[in-house]
Amino acid sequence: MPSCLPLVVYNDGTNASLDTKLTWNLNLGRLFGPAADRDEPIYRWFPFRHSFSRHLVQDLLAEWQIGSGATILDPFCGGGTTLLASGQKGINSIGYDILPFSVLLSRVKTRRYDTTALRRVLDQLRLDVDVDVSFLDEKPAFLRKAFPPDVLCRVLGMRESICQITNGSIRDFFLVALLSCLESLSFTTKTGGFLRFVAKDLSFVDPTQMVRSAALAMIEDLELASCTMPEGVRADVRLGDARLHSRGKVCEALITSPPYPNRHDYTRIYLLELLIGSSMSESEIKSLRYRTLRSHVEARQQIRAVGYQRPAALERILDCMAQGNLNNSGLLRMIAGYFEDMHLCLVASARRLRSGGRIAFVVSNARFGGHCIPVDTILAEIGQGLGLKVLDIRVGRVRGNSPQQMGRFGRAESRESIIIWEKDSQSRLGRMQSGWTASGTCAYSSCKGGLQEQVTWKI
Ligand SMILES: C[S@@+](CC[C@H](N)C(=O)[O-])C[C@H]1O[C@@H](n2cnc3c(N)ncnc32)[C@H](O)[C@@H]1O
Repeated sequence: MPSCLPLVVYNDGTNASLDTKLTWNLNLGRLFGPAADRDEPIYRWFPFRHSFSRHLVQDLLAEWQIGSGATILDPFCGGGTTLLASGQKGINSIGYDILPFSVLLSRVKTRRYDTTALRRVLDQLRLDVDVDVSFLDEKPAFLRKAFPPDVLCRVLGMRESICQITNGSIRDFFLVALLSCLESLSFTTKTGGFLRFVAKDLSFVDPTQMVRSAALAMIEDLELASCTMPEGVRADVRLGDARLHSRGKVCEALITSPPYPNRHDYTRIYLLELLIGSSMSESEIKSLRYRTLRSHVEARQQIRAVGYQRPAALERILDCMAQGNLNNSGLLRMIAGYFEDMHLCLVASARRLRSGGRIAFVVSNARFGGHCIPVDTILAEIGQGLGLKVLDIRVGRVRGNSPQQMGRFGRAESRESIIIWEKDSQSRLGRMQSGWTASGTCAYSSCKGGLQEQVTWKI
């Protein structure tokens, strides 16, 4: 049993001023997941399980009095909730994600379509074609295990037909329809943050019918004029790294949810979508896995945050964990890396924000081997060190630990919160952490040496 337990996660003195920023609103918690939008046109096209609700975005936009003409940034756009929810209010957006599948999904949900053209293409689309079964030998073993052979032949056949559509937006649209059926057509399920194999009877599934129905339902959603992106409103979605998006249009506000440090690996959860939808090879996916944010143990350091200093509270937790019995030696590296990466995200995000603009990060505290990590107050402190003013840490959900953990380590609650910062026009460079030079220049160097990006910080 770890020697320095129970760990008091807040009110531990280090973050005392930030503890006063904690406000509790347990009604907010239901907006931290996608359930509220499960039946909502467009949002329901693909069950992206790590999404928050559109209400969370639209409530913040209303509270911050952000209206049409403004631009909102989401550096971890995932299933595109911030972009679509802002668009529906007439607000432009810019989104980044490192996962090609997230970029595809977000783009498809935020485009405007000619539904007559979509119906015409669907009528002509050959969805009843199979690739030759011998073709499967070249496919990754994972795909062969995930689907019955006849279903996989049909899925790949449909994919080939869709790829022949010449109009890129229409092609992406039908690709998402196909991808939205993969979970039902395979022996997999996405639960608890993992892609798992499950026993299913797939002998009666009709892949062609399923994909056609999914595509039709998507078109019908678009025909409900009230839910589509208004004319002239733009969502610019790009493949990119949230630690490196510091150049570009200055935005009015930022609403996002970074990966939680809970070991969920998006490249594994969305493995089928990456293999089939993005045509990535297994080795390309592995390399992407290493490059994702260090919220899981396989991600590797890509960028060094020159001058970043760990907050004292984090340092103490890491010391404490090092003395305990962690079941995975990579966890300490992961947690330390997570906060260094988040420091980089905050720097990049703040640079893209106008003075007085607000940032909302939905985050969750984490618990490993009985050690509680107050991600919200530690991140708030990192932002504060960069000159961002912490307005509020809104706690929306509190999770208890499992009965086994409770027996071993005692009761410990874990918060899920929204941290809200303001880029204060009065901020001074002197409030920033050491390593920032007087002129406010920060160098990001890649781990292999060469300079990745040179950033000049000015508020
Ligand atoms: C919690 S999800 C975001 C969900 C989103 N708020 C929504 O409502 O759909 C986090 C996203 O971060 C992405 N991600 C992980 N590492 C990243 C990085 N370094 N840069 C940008 N995106 C990254 C993942 O691919 C995932 O889509």
